[in-house]
Amino acid sequence: MASIVEGREVSALLDELSTMVGREDPYGHYARLRELGPVLREPDGTLIVTRFADCQAVSRDHRLGKMPIEMLPLAGLADWAEHPALHGYFTSLLGINPPDHTRLRRLVSSSFTARRVRELGPATTRMIDDLIDDLSAAGTADFVAAFAFPLPCNVISELLGVPEADRAPFQHLVQDWSAVLDEITPEVLLKADPAAQAVRDYLGGLAAERRQRPRGDLMSAMVEHEEAGDRLTGDELLTMAGLLFAAGFETTTNLLSNGLAALLDHPEQLPRLHADPAAAVEELLRFDSPVQNIDRTVIEPASVAGVALEPGQRIVAYTGAANRDPRRFTDPDRLDLLRADTASLSFGGGIHYCLGAPMARLEAQIAFPRLFERLPGLRRADGAERRNSLTIRGFDSLPVTTA
Ligand code: HEM
Repeated sequence: MASIVEGREVSALLDELSTMVGREDPYGHYARLRELGPVLREPDGTLIVTRFADCQAVSRDHRLGKMPIEMLPLAGLADWAEHPALHGYFTSLLGINPPDHTRLRRLVSSSFTARRVRELGPATTRMIDDLIDDLSAAGTADFVAAFAFPLPCNVISELLGVPEADRAPFQHLVQDWSAVLDEITPEVLLKADPAAQAVRDYLGGLAAERRQRPRGDLMSAMVEHEEAGDRLTGDELLTMAGLLFAAGFETTTNLLSNGLAALLDHPEQLPRLHADPAAAVEELLRFDSPVQNIDRTVIEPASVAGVALEPGQRIVAYTGAANRDPRRFTDPDRLDLLRADTASLSFGGGIHYCLGAPMARLEAQIAFPRLFERLPGLRRADGAERRNSLTIRGFDSLPVTTA
């Protein structure tokens, strides 16, 4: 059996990684962690893997899953069910294991189809063009606030059928709620709980309307869809619709911001963006992923990289580090938009593979070429601020000028 690496060097690197310096640029720290050994242990006992093959194995192993609800009290979350923000997360696809996960994922996948995403293309292009008009008129603006933040929320609203007039307040409600995906503290819950409740109440009204008068949107499809005598209950429907906002909003915001920053910092790559926007977006996802790690709990005895795993153990796969693993990618720290092999772990893997990946790709594949076609003078301006999070990598602000 291989051994686990722990001790001062691991702790020091992890400590540095969680300072603002590490968060500005975690990739040097990841490289050092990757070389210490395949399996590392944090002082609190959590195991960490950083190499591509091991992170992929963790994401695909059915013996590793989401923390079972019975174990949440051991993690200090005994009252999770009383918090709307946590209830909406731990009972959603993102928080559950088979067989419940299998059933819910099958039901939603039959409605949230590739065709439905393709059909969003023209509306997405219109929304992108409107936001570019505003950016252009402003001359200098924060790209996050002016573009990357509103676009995903508007696209998910369009998908579900939230009318335009109701969309603006949603952006901040979902932001407050999805803060629990980053960290769960009493301060975060203070804002996240009422926000999660407000989103759920709104979606409840929308679902009731669609039951009366179905339309062509995803909410109507989920209300109506029945498969082999099974359908989403009213409660499951609201959890699912809420999850699409919570999981799909800031992740996509950060793909747009990280991707734009990388493109502005590597202007020599722009011809490649226009040559193949789909390949370019895959490389941008690999190079600086909005999600940097995924968390699992050992459900049944298993092993990773030759290390035995005991039920109940927590293991985190640093997918952001895996995406820069030289064992997997040639010259991994180089952005190369025409890289032949870009299959990264940015959307996870296995049964929890991102449900919204086609939608995030659609938005980015339209947005990036359009931004540079319409705003050829687009440049960074001073004052960019990285987000203070180890899991969700992005920007709080990314000032740009269009002149
Ligand atoms: C660039 C943008 C995005 C990134 C990087 C991303 C990343 C991820 C990752 C890494 C997971 C797996 C989590 C795990 O294994 O624990 C995941 C799951 C999920 N994502 Fe995304 N996501 C993005 C956009 C979206 C969008 C736009 C939606 C919906 C509209 C969405 C909905 C979901 C859902 C529902 C799950 C849970 C799937 C399951 O557990 O079966 N995501 N996402």
